[in-house]
Amino acid sequence: MKRVLVIGAKGMLGRDLLEVLRSARGENRQGEFEVIGWDLQEIDIRQEAGTLSKIEGVRPDIVINLAAYTDVDGCEKNRDEALRVNAEGMKHVARGARAVSAKIVYLSTDYVFDGKKGEPYLETDSPNPLNVYGQSKLKGEEYLQQWAEDHLIIRTQWLYGRHGRNFVSSILRLAKEKPDLSIVDDQTGSPTYTVDLSRAIAALLQHGSRGTFHAVNQGACTWYTFARSILTASRMENVTVTPISSERLGRPAVRPSYSVLDTQKLRQEIGSELRPWSEALRDYLNVLQSNRPVVP
Ligand SMILES: NC(=O)c1ccc[n+]([C@@H]2O[C@H](COP(=O)([O-])OP(=O)(O)OC[C@H]3O[C@@H](n4cnc5c(N)ncnc54)[C@H](OP(=O)(O)O)[C@@H]3O)[C@@H](O)[C@H]2O)c1
Repeated sequence: MKRVLVIGAKGMLGRDLLEVLRSARGENRQGEFEVIGWDLQEIDIRQEAGTLSKIEGVRPDIVINLAAYTDVDGCEKNRDEALRVNAEGMKHVARGARAVSAKIVYLSTDYVFDGKKGEPYLETDSPNPLNVYGQSKLKGEEYLQQWAEDHLIIRTQWLYGRHGRNFVSSILRLAKEKPDLSIVDDQTGSPTYTVDLSRAIAALLQHGSRGTFHAVNQGACTWYTFARSILTASRMENVTVTPISSERLGRPAVRPSYSVLDTQKLRQEIGSELRPWSEALRDYLNVLQSNRPVVP
């Protein structure tokens, strides 16, 4: 059984990933994991010495680094802090993992791309981030490639899940407060459910995979289409949604207009892709309404 250390375990993805890894099953216990979950209270990845000694203290076989400064507009205003957590922090984790010969897994983002390709991005396409968050995450990827031979970079996007503020929870909240919403219609991506992503991460670990993979729910839409789907599936069609441009919204960080990620490589590796985003969304909304456990 492999010992897995998850850093950033109390975040939106972290909490579902812990549940999925703890319930993973395999033949002869090969595919099972002993999981340790740490967050800021246990480790601060900005601190090099502390990060190294803490990782050496538990001697994991695999370290999954989810810890990040994830406020994309906040990163634009706090460049130094974004680099300190997302880039330097990744380097510290990579050094700690290397000291105990552990595999390292890093969650990265579609925002490493500029969105100008016009068709889904392959793992081999050249990155060209438009904002500080994307730049800091790309640096994290580069440190990982430099510091750790046995690494896994998993790029994902537009995450939602039960354990964090996200687009779905914001739309459901706003729809109760306002009769009409204005939502950006010039950014296209794939909304991705944290539980589905967690299962793909578990499968990649069970396969002993290495290198870079894209992992998102299948299909693509704009934020506007996504918002309408959330309202329709929640029987809140009475709320009006107006499409607007990113320019009109005027957020500090520029986002790519088309950052859909191709997932063929993932399918070849683990034998399946994540289900279509609309199916995952319906399941997630059912989970919210029924309060049933996510991982049976
Ligand atoms: N959310 C998305 O749509 C998305 C898309 C693409 C990629 N990703 C990547 O996926 C990963 C998980 O995302 P998420 O949405 O689950 O993020 P999240 O909810 O913000 O979770 C990140 C966790 O890391 C902790 N953390 C922050 N700074 C830390 C530090 N210096 N040392 C240790 N822990 C620290 C945070 O604690 P505090 O909350 O106390 O700060 C939080 O619990 C991140 O690497 C992110 O870049 C996310």
